[in-house]
Amino acid sequence: MEKSPIVVIVGAGRVAWHLGRRLRGKGIPVHQIINRTEERAVELARSVGASAKTNLSHINPESDWVLLAVKDDAIAGVAETLQQFVPDALVTHTSGGTAGSVLSPFFGRYGVFYPLQSFSFEHTPVWSKIPFCVDASSPEDLLFLKKTAKRIGNLVYHVNDEQRARLHVAAVFANNFANHCFAVAERILDDQDLPFEMLHPLMEETVAKALQESPARMQTGPAARGDVETMRRHLLLLEAYPDLQKMYKLFSSNIFGKEEW
Ligand SMILES: NC(=O)c1ccc[n+]([C@@H]2O[C@H](COP(=O)([O-])OP(=O)(O)OC[C@H]3O[C@@H](n4cnc5c(N)ncnc54)[C@H](OP(=O)(O)O)[C@@H]3O)[C@@H](O)[C@H]2O)c1
Repeated sequence: MEKSPIVVIVGAGRVAWHLGRRLRGKGIPVHQIINRTEERAVELARSVGASAKTNLSHINPESDWVLLAVKDDAIAGVAETLQQFVPDALVTHTSGGTAGSVLSPFFGRYGVFYPLQSFSFEHTPVWSKIPFCVDASSPEDLLFLKKTAKRIGNLVYHVNDEQRARLHVAAVFANNFANHCFAVAERILDDQDLPFEMLHPLMEETVAKALQESPARMQTGPAARGDVETMRRHLLLLEAYPDLQKMYKLFSSNIFGKEEW
């Protein structure tokens, strides 16, 4: 039987929390959780049956795979500190917006293990639907990451740094900006004492159609029709919200395909 690797997760935030529990659930034990803040390290470590550490120097020197699930801006600094303790380990991060190569100055074996989903503490991820974007500095480590991703998820893609950087930009539009638009709609309705729930069926239909067809073909609304008078009226209605006026103009121009209207 294959010996299971010694897995260490650095970080105890949203991604660490869900990945750690999933790895354990799929029979891949997590040996240590190392996190700056002790309380969170202890809580996650307890949940996955690992030991909790707060200092990177306490990492198991025999670690085979170190998963960095820390804030993007902290990845390089954490890697720099870790290199002296686990120079031969496979070290990967989980970031969509950070190149795998940020790890190359510190480790010979490095890669990316990026689950393309929005994680929060409150929601249990549907693992079978999460695309795992993996990459590694060697074919052997790539194979290991692919097999591991397949075991805990289902959809596995080999995505290089350049592709992943653009994929991440696309994901920001599809998730962060789309969600922000929902929040904008909620604000406008709140100000009119109307319940946001009124828009739920429309939001559901938007997502359902975008999943069935090309969203570009599914576009409706005044800008798609070129109803310029309606668009101008909307801009007037948004006079109390200069920030939203700007957004409305930018989105409408992009849909309409004309700067001036
Ligand atoms: N959340 C998502 O939807 C999602 C999806 C895919 C990929 N990712 C990627 O996964 C990684 C973690 O994201 P997350 O959402 O799990 O973040 P998070 O919930 O905000 O947790 C951030 C983690 O980073 C640690 N950290 C922050 N600054 C640090 C520093 N200077 N030194 C060491 N540790 C530091 C935090 O430690 P403390 O507990 O001490 O603050 C915490 O463990 C990021 O690279 C992110 O891009 C996130």
